[in-house]
Amino acid sequence: MMYASFKSIGAYLPKEVRTNQWFADKIDTTDEWIFKRTGIKERLIAAPDENTSDLGVKASKVAIERACIDVSEIDLVICATLSPDFSAMPATACLIADKLGIKDVMAFDISAACTGFVYAVSVAKAFVESGMKKNVLIVGAEKASNVMDYTDRSICMLFGDGAGAAIISTTDDKEKSIVDVQCSADGALSDILYIPGVGSADEKFMHMKGNETFKIAVKTLTSDVEKIMAKNNYTNEDIDLFIPHQANFRIIKAVGTALKLNDSQKVLTVEKFGNTSSASIPMAMNECYEDGRLTNGKTMLLDAFGGGATWGSAIIKFDGKDFIK
Ligand code: UT7
Repeated sequence: MMYASFKSIGAYLPKEVRTNQWFADKIDTTDEWIFKRTGIKERLIAAPDENTSDLGVKASKVAIERACIDVSEIDLVICATLSPDFSAMPATACLIADKLGIKDVMAFDISAACTGFVYAVSVAKAFVESGMKKNVLIVGAEKASNVMDYTDRSICMLFGDGAGAAIISTTDDKEKSIVDVQCSADGALSDILYIPGVGSADEKFMHMKGNETFKIAVKTLTSDVEKIMAKNNYTNEDIDLFIPHQANFRIIKAVGTALKLNDSQKVLTVEKFGNTSSASIPMAMNECYEDGRLTNGKTMLLDAFGGGATWGSAIIKFDGKDFIK
């Protein structure tokens, strides 16, 4: 039996730091309101000439190097994004593959909003375990600033830009593999969080029923983790790092409390990155990798909720080399 192992993680952090005060200077809000309601102090913003695929390429290069493989060994590229370079085609994954010099391989995007990276892990695992692919590059990349209406105070200060990437490869060692991924969706909730039409001038912005989304997110994120833990006979003590989607500190706190996870297990990056949608989990994972919390053999619990509505969770044993400064 072939298993899928999580071989590496990398990220790219855009250079511009945009503080809450930037928003307070432009719209009817305050630094205090934003921080108290969301836990966000700042977010990163991509340069005008940096597209989502460019962010994805920069994160991918780090992940590929850390996996100690050559680009020629990658046989599938998957990009999860809600802010693609082009609204319908070509897929951002095709652009990423081309910019990395990856030729003649399958490349496609996943549209699952903030759950996109967990969906990508699920798809990569299936391809690897079926024997169809050996080394899959998965990317969560967002230039969310492209789909923000900077006059809409209900949403514009929540999101930031960035990218994370990982290599999922074959292994015959079950103890070092991705334990389980479960993903789900409910299109009946499509109106709580949506972008009418990326690309058309007046319809490209994201809309969210924030409070409704908040309540559904807390409930769904909690019950989803309870299901995957019970299914795999895992208890809280088996989890080293709980890496949830970083939308709102209050959501993470409520879910963490409901699941009885302690503070040292919870990973929080929302304060400095804001919500980077599909990039938020891999960016948070990369933080843990670079600060030494994520080492070979550690067990991660991922948990995400996003537009669609989509949600998903995963239990993953990290099979990469430890970070060397
Ligand atoms: O990534 C995918 C999943 N995303 C999420 O899960 C995000 C979920 N939602 C949230 O994080 C929160 O709902 C928000 C941060 C968006 C909003 O927080 P909230 O506690 O749900 O606030 P609210 O929408 O209920 O608004 C409370 C008050 C309202 O005023 P009144 O009616 O009480 O007078 C709003 O008009 O805050 C007001 N308000 C603001 N005030 C200052 C709304 N936005 C702002 C703002 N600055 N930016």
